[in-house]
Amino acid sequence: MTSVLETAQSETYPFEAYKKLSPDELRERILAVKREMGPRLLILGHHYQRDEVIELSDLQGDSYRLSALAAENEACRAIIFCGVHFMAETADILANRPEKVAQRGERIPVILPDMKAGCSMADMAEIDQVEECWQQLSQVIDISEVIPVTYVNSSAKLKAFCGRHGGTVCTSANADVALQWALSRGRRVLFFPDQHLGRNTALKMGIPLEAMPVWDPYARELGGNSREAIEKSTVILWKGHCSVHQIFRPEHVDYFRANYPGIKILVHPECMKEVVEKADVVGSTGRIIRAVEEAPPGTKWAIGTELHLVNRLKKKHPEQEIYFLAPVVCMCSTMYRIDLPHLCWAAENLAAGTPVNVIRVDDATAKDALVALERMLELKGR
Ligand code: 13P
Ligand code: SF4
Repeated sequence: MTSVLETAQSETYPFEAYKKLSPDELRERILAVKREMGPRLLILGHHYQRDEVIELSDLQGDSYRLSALAAENEACRAIIFCGVHFMAETADILANRPEKVAQRGERIPVILPDMKAGCSMADMAEIDQVEECWQQLSQVIDISEVIPVTYVNSSAKLKAFCGRHGGTVCTSANADVALQWALSRGRRVLFFPDQHLGRNTALKMGIPLEAMPVWDPYARELGGNSREAIEKSTVILWKGHCSVHQIFRPEHVDYFRANYPGIKILVHPECMKEVVEKADVVGSTGRIIRAVEEAPPGTKWAIGTELHLVNRLKKKHPEQEIYFLAPVVCMCSTMYRIDLPHLCWAAENLAAGTPVNVIRVDDATAKDALVALERMLELKGR
């Protein structure tokens, strides 16, 4: 986790005491802050959050929708982001873009209730590694023909890199439009950090696997590729992945197809290609929810995404038969770090005028990252 000026303000209420409170007490106290602050406080919740956190959030969404909500909101004067670090960084950049700050006359704090809520995939591409990759590529191919595209699951520094080099950010809701956009502007794309989202999206667009070398940032030269492979490339994929989604395997799909006739397989595009190829529906967390909401009673699903979301869908849709695609538990342990004690601690300190865990992207990084993020918002999500 880089590029942020995380403010270390002294807190009115230390965290320790919150660990001893019951869930009911915590809920009541969070609700009291919500009543006191009204629309000035916006609590955003990603779909992978625990149920008790989702219940207390004002708005929920996938990465695309949460970015758009942070960009649009006029009334709020503080955001508590129940999600992971890169999401809070994105919200800070969008909610505090210069024209917004000028309009309202102040910055608004974006708070991540637990600083340890990171994303292991985002940490798989660091700015120095990406700069090094760019430099090496420029010795082999015409770098002015390469458009960088970063998945939103990345640090603000990587988004700024894309902004500086004519690239964009994408989410799992608009990766296809982003790749099309990039390939209409350049001959090749450098896509990071998720190789699976990049590969699945490019394959769907008809780009062959041979035109997608994988760049290993730890390899000594050319990311472990031959010069010829780079010259023939259309999309250069970064060797990164999501540790949660890599659990789903093609044999899990085979198991459900064999044992549950008529079942539909619904997966997130961070899953490996062999799983995505066997699925009926592939999409962002928002798309996954819509697919279930729109299905008739009696529909059978095996869903390949984070456990909390699948369990919530199961509870909300007893009229359908919903299974978790993997036989093992697979949850996002960093999303899970946001719990009621952290949320209550963050909310009460905010109300007391001593916000804790404020994510503040430095101005230079924010300026360049905003260029790429605005392109992403123009590309829309689905
Ligand atoms: P969405 O963009 O679908 O919300 O996914 C975010 C994420 O981190 C998935 O692992
Ligand atoms: Fe990152 Fe994977 Fe967790 Fe999403 S599910 S936040 S990609 S580690």
